[in-house]
Amino acid sequence: MGQKIAVIGTGYVGLTTGACLSHLGHEVICADVIPEKVDALNRGEIPILEAGLEELVNEGRQSGQLRFVLGATTAAAEAEFIYLCVPTPQGADGSADLSYIRDAAAEIGPVVRPESIVINKSTVPVGSTRVVEQALGRSDVHVVSNPEFLREGSAVHDFLHPDRIVIGADDQSAAIRVAGLYLGLAAPLQVTDPASAETIKYASNAFLATKISYVNAIAAVCEAVGADVNDVVLGMGYDRRIGDAFLRPGPGWGGSCFPKDSHALVKIAEDAGYDFELLKGVIAVNDDQFTRVAAKIADAAGGDVDGVTVGVWGLTFKARTDDLRESPSLEIIGRLRSLGARVRAYDPAIEAGTDDPRLEGIEVVDDPYAACEGAAVLAVLTEWDEFKWLDFDKVGEVMTEKRVVDARNLLDRSPLNRRGFVVDGIGR
Ligand code: UDX
Repeated sequence: MGQKIAVIGTGYVGLTTGACLSHLGHEVICADVIPEKVDALNRGEIPILEAGLEELVNEGRQSGQLRFVLGATTAAAEAEFIYLCVPTPQGADGSADLSYIRDAAAEIGPVVRPESIVINKSTVPVGSTRVVEQALGRSDVHVVSNPEFLREGSAVHDFLHPDRIVIGADDQSAAIRVAGLYLGLAAPLQVTDPASAETIKYASNAFLATKISYVNAIAAVCEAVGADVNDVVLGMGYDRRIGDAFLRPGPGWGGSCFPKDSHALVKIAEDAGYDFELLKGVIAVNDDQFTRVAAKIADAAGGDVDGVTVGVWGLTFKARTDDLRESPSLEIIGRLRSLGARVRAYDPAIEAGTDDPRLEGIEVVDDPYAACEGAAVLAVLTEWDEFKWLDFDKVGEVMTEKRVVDARNLLDRSPLNRRGFVVDGIGR
């Protein structure tokens, strides 16, 4: 039976949540504060790159199950369930900035219906359910934690095929009502208290970041001892206790979640009296990975990149997304430019000539071969599949040296070696 649901915030989490809940048969109203964004969404224009999202949004619009409105109160007043999907950015001291969540809760407090349920979908620190309860100022409204486990680029898939659904609530009947929204999704349902639900989210993300920092550190050991990290990871992954997922070495982890959530968890622990040394080490290894990859590129250029042109394939924090937030590629390019390098970059998801301030000083081109023009080194920093099928005869013709640093171990080396390229990678 479809319920009336409001979703506050239409970023990749809010928009995916709204579209998928309408797909599950609910009547969903999504709210944002940006008029142009609301108008565009009501025209079916999706501002983000998410596989399957445009289809679901237009399915919801045509069936009348999905609407977009300006302002949280408009959406919340009619709803029985109100999802908070607003940003929780990293504050200056590393903690999560809860101002958006608090403002949204304070705004809808006066208008939400008695016995409605406010659902924290955004990643919020342990104890935030209390923060929302206080901001709401309503004793007849329940607040529940229901963390999202959506990867950018596969958010729709992850929502409709979750590994688990976690609901953190003090009131069991509220938990059961929220669980009912997900009927039809075949996934384990875990009902727990709010603090545990909030901790599951942070602990999961921090563990995934730990796996990646671990494999990047093992890659450094492989380089030192002459092992091949691809074979090492393959051998490790057969052990079901380890698994082979999230063990791909690379330039380091980035994105809108891992950096924010790992720093937040360190701060949450510290504020609660535990010094999370292990996670600090995971973050330090990741920062060091940016420096290690920049050094590899400098080494490939003969040790000094001052005045050298470096070609870069990949600017986004990972393939199949257009998100530049906390992108390892930009961290590495920043280090190269501070050493005097000139960087020319191509990314299939980033328009040439973009005026994005994060790309200032980088010559962004719309053709992968143009990015290699006059370059002494080509650095592959994002694992876009199309890079594997490009014409390396053509690449070799336009470069001044045939040197490649493949920071994603993406490319097949033998055809490159046959064409005279010297290829360096991560851990092999
Ligand atoms: C992550 C979590 O996966 C998701 O469950 C959570 O809800 C939000 O944060 P996302 O930030 O979209 O999702 O990216 P993810 O696919 O996890 O990759 C994070 C970073 O790790 C990227 O920079 C990626 O390139 C890197 N990565 C990932 C590796 O370097 N190696 C891997 O094996 C996997």
